[in-house]
Amino acid sequence: MSEPQDVMDKLVSLCKRRGYIFQSSEIYGGTGSVWDYGPLGVELKRNVKEAWWTSMVHMRDDVEGLDASILMHPRVWEASGHVAGFSDPLIECKSCRRRFRADLPEVQERQCPVCGTRDAFGEARQFNLMFKTFMGPVEDTSAVIYLRPETAQGSYVNFLNIQQSARQKVPFGIAQIGKAFRNEITPGNFIFRTREFEQMELQFFVKPGSDDEWFEQWKAARMEWHLANGIRKEKLRFHEHGPDELAHYAKKAFDIEYEYPFGWKEFEGIHNRTDFDLSRHQEYSGKRLEYIDPSTNERFIPYVVETAVGVDRTMLVALIDGYREETVEGEERVVLGLIPKLAPIKVAVFPLVKKDGLPERAEKLHASLRRAAVNSFYDDAGSIGRRYRRQDEAGTPWCVTVDGQTSVDGSVTIRDRDTLVQVRVAEDRVLGWVKERLL
Ligand code: GAP
Repeated sequence: MSEPQDVMDKLVSLCKRRGYIFQSSEIYGGTGSVWDYGPLGVELKRNVKEAWWTSMVHMRDDVEGLDASILMHPRVWEASGHVAGFSDPLIECKSCRRRFRADLPEVQERQCPVCGTRDAFGEARQFNLMFKTFMGPVEDTSAVIYLRPETAQGSYVNFLNIQQSARQKVPFGIAQIGKAFRNEITPGNFIFRTREFEQMELQFFVKPGSDDEWFEQWKAARMEWHLANGIRKEKLRFHEHGPDELAHYAKKAFDIEYEYPFGWKEFEGIHNRTDFDLSRHQEYSGKRLEYIDPSTNERFIPYVVETAVGVDRTMLVALIDGYREETVEGEERVVLGLIPKLAPIKVAVFPLVKKDGLPERAEKLHASLRRAAVNSFYDDAGSIGRRYRRQDEAGTPWCVTVDGQTSVDGSVTIRDRDTLVQVRVAEDRVLGWVKERLL
């Protein structure tokens, strides 16, 4: 296997070659740390979001969905503490003028990581990470509005709307998937840290006093979800935030970390946000945000256990974890070992040769899979070996080949991407065979 940086370089190039991820505005030289998802990338992204939504919303009675706006009343961000406290310490190199986060280990050595100047930095200043713009045609301070840096606040300000309209009782949760924006000082590592990204966040409202227990339950459930996505257990771990790492809203926080080629870093955050957000919104809006327990008439502001993970980061982990290079039958191959549920293309259909009616038969099979909403890909170009390799790299779990035997007994071969085992299955059983394995 290659060196860590090599793996990242190879993955970035595979993602471009196969149509997973392109640099934004590439023909203009690219935009810093913003990425576009191509045909396979957008499928992977949809599958990641679907997997999260199914497990967090559809499989539970105690979680409701929400899609709140990116633009919110500016007071929301004062109440949430983001205007005052959502910042990173920024320093500038006196020599090359590059800017860095003051808490980076390289920078703490007092040497500029770019130009190498010693004692390069002056005093750090706080840099707010929220993107600011103006609402309406007038650009003055009364028109300032922010792009949300987290989806969570949309769930807090809608807490009572959802609790009442869905007739939920505490404990219950609000789940959201949506874009968030942060003007990160040091974005990078491909789609690990970007300025525009998507989050999948759950705010789970509980009675104060039961928060520690719910925190443990959600910690375990979220680790299970990553394992169910096929991520290797030994590459995942919990990391508890020390007092200097805790966000301004958190009483307790654990990250689920993944061992990326560039080290152990955050994958998902699980936070006990107490009643901080709801209390602040009650104070700033002047509207009561208490819950009244229908059985006891007790009033309280619920505590919140939050689970927050990036869509893009989940994709990155799936891509890194699934990437492998190996030699089979004397030939090198690159494989993206995505689990079938996440794989963009589920099945590729090939005629072994372009004659004897095989292409027509294969196209018919391909069309029937598509009609049944199984994302199938038809390919008759090049040798069968090359076609297999292309699909291995794209992460396609199964390749179906229509061959001479198909004309004799109506059976086709299905080749498994990981084991390379080929089985013969009747043409009209292929759909059922695939569906059984996707569930
Ligand atoms: N609502 C809580 C919250 O936003 P966070 O730990 O700052 O907590 C949650 O972010 C998750 O969002 C992270 O664990 C990561 O998966 C993702 N994320 C945060 N900043 C990101 C960025 N700049 N680029 C990509 N993903 C990011």
